[in-house]
Order: sequence, then C-alpha cells, then structure tokens
Amino acid sequence: MKKIGILTSGGDCSGMNAAIRSAVRTALRLNTEIVGFRKGYAGLMKGDCIPLDSRAVSGILHRGGTFLQSARSPEFRTPEGQQSALANLRRLGVDGLVILGGDGSLSGALALHQLGFPTIGIPASIDNDIPATDMSLGVDTALNNIIYAVDCIKDTASSHARAFVIEVMGRNSGYLASISAIATGAEFALVPEREYDLAEICQQLRGRYEEGRDNAIIILAEGAGNAQAIADAIKDAIGFETRVTVLGHYQRGGAPSVFDRLLASRFGKSAVELLLQGERGMMVGLACNAMITTPLETVIRGAKRPPEEMVRLAEELGI
Ligand code: ADP
Ligand code: F6P
Repeated sequence: MKKIGILTSGGDCSGMNAAIRSAVRTALRLNTEIVGFRKGYAGLMKGDCIPLDSRAVSGILHRGGTFLQSARSPEFRTPEGQQSALANLRRLGVDGLVILGGDGSLSGALALHQLGFPTIGIPASIDNDIPATDMSLGVDTALNNIIYAVDCIKDTASSHARAFVIEVMGRNSGYLASISAIATGAEFALVPEREYDLAEICQQLRGRYEEGRDNAIIILAEGAGNAQAIADAIKDAIGFETRVTVLGHYQRGGAPSVFDRLLASRFGKSAVELLLQGERGMMVGLACNAMITTPLETVIRGAKRPPEEMVRLAEELGI
C-alpha cells in the first residue's frame, strides 16, 4: 500500500487525536502516505481530505475531540453513499482506511470491507459497548469526568440533605453508570441491564433517612429511565428534597487520561501496521492489557455487557 486514509466517525471521544497522531507517525515510519478525511463518512462521500504529516499532528495528543471532526451521516448507510465513498477512494489513490468510532462507525468499516475495500477499525466510544475489547477509547477519560462531577455534587447533596439523580451517558449500556457508582460510592446505579423497583428504592431511601443519612446519590444510565420522573417519584413517595443533574456532553470532552493516551497510541500504531501487513476487515482491541484483533463481522454480530465481576462488586458493596 502506498497511501492510506484515516477518519473519525460517530460520537467523538477523548483520545481520538492521540490515535490519529500515532497512526500518522506509524505510516510515515513505514514510508506510507496518509490522508485524513474530515467529518467521518460525510467527508469520505465528498472526497474531503487533507494530507497528514508529522507537523499536521503535532500539539494534538493532549487535546480532546478530534481535529478531523466527526459526524453522523445517514447517507453512508445507503448503497449509493458507499459507492460514492469508494469512487473517491479510487480517485484519490487511497488503498486502505483506518476508521475510529463506535459500533455504527465500525458497521460502516465492515460495509466497505465487504465491498472489497481494506479497512481496520479502532473502537472509540465512551459507551464501552463494543465487543472484543476490554476498553474502548475515551471510556477512561469519560469516567474520570463523571467521578469529578459526582464528587462535586456529593458535597452539595450533603450540605443540603438532598437526593441527587445524576444521569450519565451510555446509550443502551449501563457500563459508565455501574463503574462510576462503584468509584464514587453512590447509593444506587440504575442500568438497562438490570431491572429495578422504584418503590423498593424509595423504601431504602426512607430507611437510610431514619438512620440519619439524609442525602443520596443515584446514578442513572440514560438508557434506564427518565431522571426527572425518578426524582419526582422519590419526592412524592418520601418527601426527600431531590435534584436532577444530566451530565450530558461534558462527559465526552477534555484532555485524555494517561490510560487513553496510551491506548490511543497503541491502537493507532497497531491499526496502521495491520493494514500495511495486509490484514483487512479487522478491529484492534485490548484484552488483558495486550493488543488483539477480531474480525469486524464478529464484533458487529456480538453484544457486550458490563463485566460480571463489576456487576457483582457493585451488588456486594450495596449499590
Ligand atoms: P457510533 O459510531 O458512535 O456508534 P453512529 O451509530 O451514529 O455512531 O454511526 C456513525 C455513522 O456510521 C453513521 O452516521 C453512518 O454514517 C455509519 N453507519 C452506522 N451504521 C451503519 C451501517 N449499518 N452500515 C453502514 N454505515 C453505518
Ligand atoms: O455513543 C456516544 C454517545 O455519547 C452516547 O452515550 C449518547 O447517547 C450519544 O452518543 C449522544 O449523541 P449526540 O452527540 O449525537 O447527541
């Protein structure tokens, strides 16, 4: 391969820049030209790309987001969208692509591979819902953002004797909620993977109150219910003053943690090396602190649940 491309797609996350930098440095070390497509598949369908050299990626390792920008592009799901992307890749002389993103973006990488174009995926999404990797890029930084916010809110919960329902992201996954609940000592974690009984939660909160514990933190995964409705139910049932905080996109940004900088550097290097070694249709991943590769087809067919040990740990700690 003489020339490869890279793009970031779907929801952005911290560490994408560091992964692009690592991919570019690896390609250049292996005497391969590399270009970056802007705004994910939208840029690919327009042929909107820039050449990447070491200057283009200097000073970005510590910055959140993605300097190539990201997008959700429904048009790329269509055969016409994919054909226009392929036509641009041919016209630009690009022989292979590294694609960073969540499960949707990796489905796009699989689609291109199935059309005969070489792709390698990098799991990048704060949700940590992508199979075949212990951690996706951006998860650790998002967790650090969440625990900083929850620690701050706990101070107010305690000063004002309030219950807070704090909604975290994760789409249909409760990973961020479960892990941040363990890491902050929250009273409850409400996740889509486990049914919960609001009446039972209210009863437990009342019991705590009667024992003199007059504040509580309830971490709600966005896929597990409506934060305001839960807060209202608690207020109606036990008269506990409640407040809601939706952490929202704050979770996705900020300087990547050490863990994410290292993971990004490893993922970027591995993805480019694999592509240049002739691998296709694979995703790089992390398992027991080692780099692994899995066919995109297996990744997309699979489903990931929060690790059993963490689910048990949360239960054993009374969350
Ligand atoms: P994420 O990658 O964070 O999961 P999305 O699910 O929004 O985010 O997917 C990002 C983009 O990937 C979509 O806007 C679309 O362009 C592309 N994509 C998603 N699913 C598919 C699919 N099944 N086939 C082809 N492309 C897809
Ligand atoms: O997939 C990452 C994620 O942040 C989810 O946790 C969340 O549901 C979604 O993206 C938000 O998407 P958007 O940035 O388009 O609002």
